[in-house]
Formats: sequence, structure tokens, C-alpha cells
Amino acid sequence: MRPLGAASAGASQAASLVAVPGGGAVPRHVAIIMDGNGRWAKKRFLPRFAGHKAGVDAVRNVTRAARAMGIEALTLYAFSSENWRRPAEEVSDLMGLLRHFIRSDLDELTRENVRLCVIGDYHAFSPDLVAMVDDAIARTAANTGPLLAIALNYGAHAELVLAARRLAERARDGVLDPASIDAAMVEGELDTRDLPPLDLMIRTSGEQRLSNFLLWQAAYAELLFVDTLWPDFDGDALAEAVAAFGVRQRRYGGL
Ligand code: IPE
Ligand code: IPE
Ligand code: MG
Repeated sequence: MRPLGAASAGASQAASLVAVPGGGAVPRHVAIIMDGNGRWAKKRFLPRFAGHKAGVDAVRNVTRAARAMGIEALTLYAFSSENWRRPAEEVSDLMGLLRHFIRSDLDELTRENVRLCVIGDYHAFSPDLVAMVDDAIARTAANTGPLLAIALNYGAHAELVLAARRLAERARDGVLDPASIDAAMVEGELDTRDLPPLDLMIRTSGEQRLSNFLLWQAAYAELLFVDTLWPDFDGDALAEAVAAFGVRQRRYGGL
């Protein structure tokens, strides 16, 4: 596995941005908290499921747009480790939509050279879904194009706890000197270790919180909160977000 390394912060991260004609820069790695499906449905007097279903269409549109813009990695928060608190029927609907998405979109992703990966402990899902996800990851593993990371049963606290536990076990076994643990080593234990540094985090629906998403990785990411409900977020909305990112000045603590 290629660790991200603490060296990825600061100057090298700034240098990683792709300049685009007309100014601004395209972020290498964009993460989205896709929020507001329920409110989108409620506004239309529809069941929450209808909002989640429309949310899948938005995923398709936005991943296509991200590819067209040359965004190297897109990470989508699809199911948080706290979303198990929802009614069983809604959890099951969300799992059903994930199955549907894999069935309907995997061919296109494979064809488009997208490499699919998952962050979070999706092994807590039902065995058939785990098998589908594993198959989707395997089918796109040799692809060399953009990365699409789906956060499934993801929570930043759990991710960091696991990282701490793994490092502690190696220290206990005498193969790791605790004094040598640094940021790069922690990053090497995170689910995002194979992704570029996070440049831009977007949350839709007007909520302004991170809800346990990529807490470590967001240290120097630009945050963008938009009022648009996720099912209404499209390629143009992503282009606007990228343009807003392009005029941000990132300083990483320097001047
Ligand atoms: C986001 O939409 C989708 C998931 C969390 C899976 P919500 O379902 O949270 O929609 P709101 O926040 O109730 O509108
Ligand atoms: C965050 O949205 C999780 C996902 C988008 C998958 P939530 O709707 O679950 O977040 P809270 O509960 O409003 O913080
Ligand atoms: Mg929500």
C-alpha cells in the first residue's frame, strides 16, 4: 500500500493542484457529504425512499462530471457508521439502492477506467452485498483512471481507533518503536491511504457539520457548504464548487 505520508501536506499538496485555463485550480480529491435526500422527498410529498433514489441519479451525474473535469479522486459519503440508527426499513432501502447502483453502473465505471474503492467497514453489511462490493472492487482494480471511493459504514472515529489499535499492536509486538510514530504512519493506517490528499469537502443541504466524515483528512481541506439538496446537485453545481475552490487561498499555516 502506498501511504499518503505527512509530506503530502503543505507545499507538495499545493503543488499537486492542476491549473485550469481561466484561473483557479482543479482539486485532485473532492469528498462530498451527500445530504438532503429526505428533505428533497418531503418537499414533494414523497416517501424518503424517493429522495434516496433520486440521490443515486445525482451520484451518477456528479461522478460523470467529476471525470470530465479531471478530478482524480471523488469520495462519496453514502452510509455513515451512525446511519444504523435509522429505521430498519430505511437502512434496508439504502442497501437495496447500493445493490441497484452496482448492478446498473459498474459496466460504465469499468469502461470509463474508473477504479472503485470503499472506505469504512462494509463487511458489516449482509454477505451478498459484501460479495457484490468485493466483486466490483476486483473488477475495477486494474483500472488506471479516476478513483471513486464510496464511504460505506464509514466513521472517522472508528477509522482512527482502528489505526491506533494496529499501531499499538505492532508496538506491543516489539516491531514498532512508539517514538517513531508520526503523521505519515497514522495516515498509512487510514482507509484513505491510497487516495490523494483531500482538497475539497462539500456538504449539501445547508447543514454545516462534518458528521464524522474524514476528520483527519479534512485538516487542510477547503470546506464548502451549499444549500442545494443532494438530489438537485448536478454537474453544474460541481463546476461551481470547483470554481469556488479555485479562488480560495490555501496557506497551510504559512503566509
Ligand atoms: C442523505 O440524505 C443520505 C444518507 C444519509 C444516506 P438524508 O437521508 O440524510 O436526508 P435528510 O437529511 O433527512 O434530508
Ligand atoms: C451524513 O448525513 C451521512 C451521509 C451523508 C451518508 P446525515 O444526515 O446522516 O448526518 P446528520 O445526522 O444530519 O449529522
Ligand atoms: Mg441528513
